Amino acid sequence: MAALTVAGEVRVPGDKSISHRALMLAALATGESRVRGVLESADVHSTAGALRALGAAVPPLGAMLRITGSRLHGLRAAAAPLDCGNSGTTTRLMAGICAGYAFESVFVGDASLSRRPMRRIARPLEAMGAQVALTGDALPMTVRGGALRSINWVNDKSSAQVKSAILLAGVVGGVGATVREPEPSRDYSERMLRVAGVSVVAGNDGSVTIAPAASLRAIDIEVPGDPSSAAFFAALAVLATRGELLLRGVGLNPTRIGFYAALRRMGAAVRFEDERDQGGEPVGTVVAGASAGDLRATTAQGSEIPSMIDELPLLACVAARASGTTEIRGAAELRVKESDRIAAVVSNLRTLGAEAEELPDGLRVTGSDRALRGHVITHGDHRLAMAFGILGAVPGNSITIDDPGCAIVSFPGFWELLKRATGHATSAEGSHGKRPSSA
Ligand code: S3P
Repeated sequence: MAALTVAGEVRVPGDKSISHRALMLAALATGESRVRGVLESADVHSTAGALRALGAAVPPLGAMLRITGSRLHGLRAAAAPLDCGNSGTTTRLMAGICAGYAFESVFVGDASLSRRPMRRIARPLEAMGAQVALTGDALPMTVRGGALRSINWVNDKSSAQVKSAILLAGVVGGVGATVREPEPSRDYSERMLRVAGVSVVAGNDGSVTIAPAASLRAIDIEVPGDPSSAAFFAALAVLATRGELLLRGVGLNPTRIGFYAALRRMGAAVRFEDERDQGGEPVGTVVAGASAGDLRATTAQGSEIPSMIDELPLLACVAARASGTTEIRGAAELRVKESDRIAAVVSNLRTLGAEAEELPDGLRVTGSDRALRGHVITHGDHRLAMAFGILGAVPGNSITIDDPGCAIVSFPGFWELLKRATGHATSAEGSHGKRPSSA
């Protein structure tokens, strides 16, 4: 096995989910909010742009933002459709916010976003009294809100985006809302709404309930590093033959760290250090040590899936280097992410010479240490580009990627950091940060 040595520290950019929510709540609050360390990625620019189009005073994204809120009812109709780019979170959460307003908002996005299902938010928002018109099940979507009624919604799938759309509609609409889901999805909206002064109660039946709110308090938040972005570098270290990487200031919210638990089950040397509370969010240092040769297959399924949903393509790539057959089940949601991640991961792994099989709700990957070679088709999906970029950094593998620039959707600077961490050029050299294929 060719040697890969890793050493030093990697600082990953701010959490994407928290960044979206911080901008939204700051825009709706009364008074001046402060947001430090916001993620300056394409998806978060989409949220900032949508809020500005609705009249919110969101300054250009930067290290320290001061946002004077428009108050709960202070947004106004946008002059043009809200362009959500590639961002499902922008679309679904902003639809929840717009459902609280009597004006009409039109949501559009790029080709990938325009294929993603929206009925899952249209149904509860309509049950609250908003009018939502879809094109099939998708964008363009028109939301006309107004006087909403309270809701008690049982979601058949766990989805923080659906849950958050309903809670935000409740907040802006001044009504109570209860959402129940089968397994806990990320709880950032709940935590941040509490900080903004909303009464949020978690039931022991998997439900969360907000009480009607008259206003939101301004927030002061330091966005932790994104555990999904840190996951790429943890995987790189784990696939290495020598050394250790330190990932400091990473968000370790229990609803987000399933990938790290899966790595440990696979025999990887991964631990958390310096765990502390940062404004109500657990953060710490992820220490990931070289584990090539020790990695064995695992099964990921059931209640842990929501806690690693965005890391599953990466888990499949790591599994391609582990002994035995890894199985991912209960993850049919992967088919409606930025791409059909089950089909795309399996077909790309096969193209590279790995053994992989699609399941209706997941996949199987049988690992080996044979060299993986070939050209990866990302379908413009940032997480696929980066997951296969990590596999491509393993010496002996020779992997090119059709659209490395799509990493800017969630992780600007990814390729430079990867180059620095491995000390050599990657398949994406020369195309840092550009997004050639989509708007
Ligand atoms: C997100 C929730 C997840 C995740 C997405 C971000 C969020 O989607 O995949 O990347 O910020 O709420 P679902 O809620 O649709 O599972």
